[in-house]
Amino acid sequence: MQTIKIGLLGFGQIGSGCYTLLKMRSRDLAQQCGVRFQVKKIAVRNLRKKRQVKVPAGLLTTDAMSIVRDPDIDIVVELIGGVTDARKLVREALLRGKHVVTANKALLAEHGDEIFELACRRKSWLLFEASVGGGIPVIKALREGLVANRIDSIHSIINGTSNYILTRMSEDHMDFSEALKLAQAKGYAEADPRLDIEGIDAQHKLAILVRFAFGGRVKFKDIHCEGIATIRKEDIEFAEEFGYRIKLLAIAKRGHTGIEARVQPTLLPKEHILANVNGAFNAVLLRGDAVGDVLLYGRGAGSLPTASAVVSDLVDIAKRGTDRFADLTLVMRAIRSELRVASISTILSRYYLRFHITDQPGVLSKISHVLGKYGISISDCVQKIRSQGSVVPLILLTHEAPERSVREAIGVIDRLRVVRGPSQVIRIESGSPQ
Ligand code: HSE
Repeated sequence: MQTIKIGLLGFGQIGSGCYTLLKMRSRDLAQQCGVRFQVKKIAVRNLRKKRQVKVPAGLLTTDAMSIVRDPDIDIVVELIGGVTDARKLVREALLRGKHVVTANKALLAEHGDEIFELACRRKSWLLFEASVGGGIPVIKALREGLVANRIDSIHSIINGTSNYILTRMSEDHMDFSEALKLAQAKGYAEADPRLDIEGIDAQHKLAILVRFAFGGRVKFKDIHCEGIATIRKEDIEFAEEFGYRIKLLAIAKRGHTGIEARVQPTLLPKEHILANVNGAFNAVLLRGDAVGDVLLYGRGAGSLPTASAVVSDLVDIAKRGTDRFADLTLVMRAIRSELRVASISTILSRYYLRFHITDQPGVLSKISHVLGKYGISISDCVQKIRSQGSVVPLILLTHEAPERSVREAIGVIDRLRVVRGPSQVIRIESGSPQ
């Protein structure tokens, strides 16, 4: 039986999960794909670090480049994360004709054009199932199961940390900072938690989904991104009263002026399927023109769930190593044409607006006058606390309005003397799966 030799770059949560899973399933995998996988070398930062997963000492090295240059290695599995070193290593592996499996969303989002182009030129596999949604096979669904569809929209929860934080704020009435500490203690957050809470991790993942769902190059920076750090407990409570939950959504859809793509905190009706995805779970709701809605739900992070996706890529390469044509055409489509991403100012949406106002007669009419001037119609309004002369929250929900008008109106409202502090603006998505 043929042995496929693997070089693992990185032995953190995902790397050790892959090693464990390959050992645990070695017999089944050999039966299913007629090859044996052997981890031949593992690159680590520190040889002396105590590890939960034991490996023979001879497997470890601190010289990642020596693995990439080892002629005996067939597949390089890049799990070190970050962009600079990972990019050098992946490029070198591809230039040497090796196949690459990576979980590195930042690398693919920021340098995808270069890396995919190189993989195509070298006719090597570059697979990346673990880069989006952890153990959820969303890339495979796009590549295979949904290949007969034109994808019309993606609504997704693809950052487990933010979803965990929002769930704790909603269910346990925690403050943002308290919930973030808990998420870090559970090991969900990235080493730099700003990537999670500022939405950048989801922005990276959405850039990859957009490329393969809509078929074209996309500049990651063109994807509008807002995180959850500005969401207060009171926003979650007010949203709840109106029948909504707040989720960090990564959304992409075909719009009039191009692909609308954004990461944003979003009010979703409580009965919406994504409003019920809680804790660190991820979910991707895809709408295809033939199939309608498809929901993929599962663990978006963690050692074995993410390793499950990496090993599925290894199996793909083992099974179809010589049949490269089908996948290359999909990758080529995703790098040769340019996608036009619509500017956020051109979108239409409904909005949740929260103002902190001085409680005095005439304030509501002042604010609604400005909104009216910009053609923004109010659908709901609530001011819970009455306390003449002191600062209280006022919440308005709007009908659909142009983003540009809303931003201009908020700019004017924030300068009114009765408005204290910057206003909160959160978009509302409605509609249920079809
Ligand atoms: N920090 C990421 C998350 C891990 O919270 O989803 C998986 O990419």
